[in-house]
Amino acid sequence: MDSKFSRSWINMRIHYDNMARSRILTEFIEKNDLYKNYHMIDMCTGSGSFLIWALKQGLFPNRAILVDNDINLLKSIKSNLRQNFKNIYAIKSNNNNLDLTISDKSQQNSNVSIVKENCDTYEINDTQPHIISYSAAIDLMSKSSIDICLSKIKRENILFLSLCFDGKVKWKPSHPYDKYIMSYFNKHQSYDKGFGKALGYKSIDYVKKKAKELEYKIKIADSPWIIQNESSDDIIFLKRYVSDIKKSLFHMDGIDRSMLRHWYNHKIDSISNKIIKVQVGHKDLLLYKK
Ligand SMILES: C[S@@+](CC[C@H](N)C(=O)[O-])C[C@H]1O[C@@H](n2cnc3c(N)ncnc32)[C@H](O)[C@@H]1O
Repeated sequence: MDSKFSRSWINMRIHYDNMARSRILTEFIEKNDLYKNYHMIDMCTGSGSFLIWALKQGLFPNRAILVDNDINLLKSIKSNLRQNFKNIYAIKSNNNNLDLTISDKSQQNSNVSIVKENCDTYEINDTQPHIISYSAAIDLMSKSSIDICLSKIKRENILFLSLCFDGKVKWKPSHPYDKYIMSYFNKHQSYDKGFGKALGYKSIDYVKKKAKELEYKIKIADSPWIIQNESSDDIIFLKRYVSDIKKSLFHMDGIDRSMLRHWYNHKIDSISNKIIKVQVGHKDLLLYKK
């Protein structure tokens, strides 16, 4: 099965993801004075959404390592950074590879290594304390991949699992088929998305259970998308969201396609002509050793 993520969709999400992210990590960093000398390793980085958010929060890692197995997404990191930080940071690349240097006006540098690799097999050799992040990824992962991810916490490191989909989508106004469609959507979330059979929204409880067993501390915060069809960008995004749901579910065994079409047409009509709001549930989970 093709588990590749669409570059246009991942790039479109950056704005909505960044608005949704909780302050759980920034508060932790402030409280523990981790600003100095911190390194970041962003696994399943896609097109660099998490680094963009971190820089916008004033987190400027000395070194960042961004890992993903999709070269097409990795190649858009530079342009996304440039687009988001025009006149704020200088972003230079080495012509021979994907790596970047981000410099601020005082010539402080952040060296960004961009690595095309499978996150399950990627070995972290960094000896400096670091934050390991997985953004919008944990619900795509299998039990064994989550076990590997949790094993990456060493003494001083922090693991930050953000935008973990919790299986709940609420539309206002709702439609009588919303529940039916969501039940198939959540079933679809358990298909292979790059790590074998995914846990979907159940990954959140799995991480909580494992954290307890491993005696890790865990902090949890909500980070939902709350999107109303206000601007033309919102309308484009919401139409893409329902269209992707329709496409994903259309060939699933057992689905009633006429109900799916009806649901889709109703949503498109509401997004185009009425006021409609969607809340897509996510959680941010921060884990560290006691
Ligand atoms: C939903 S996207 C999230 C991207 C990014 N973290 C963000 O927040 O926009 C999931 C990412 O996981 C990557 N991925 C899936 N399986 C992977 C694997 N086994 N190793 C590395 N990356 C993987 C995909 O290429 C994709 O970029």
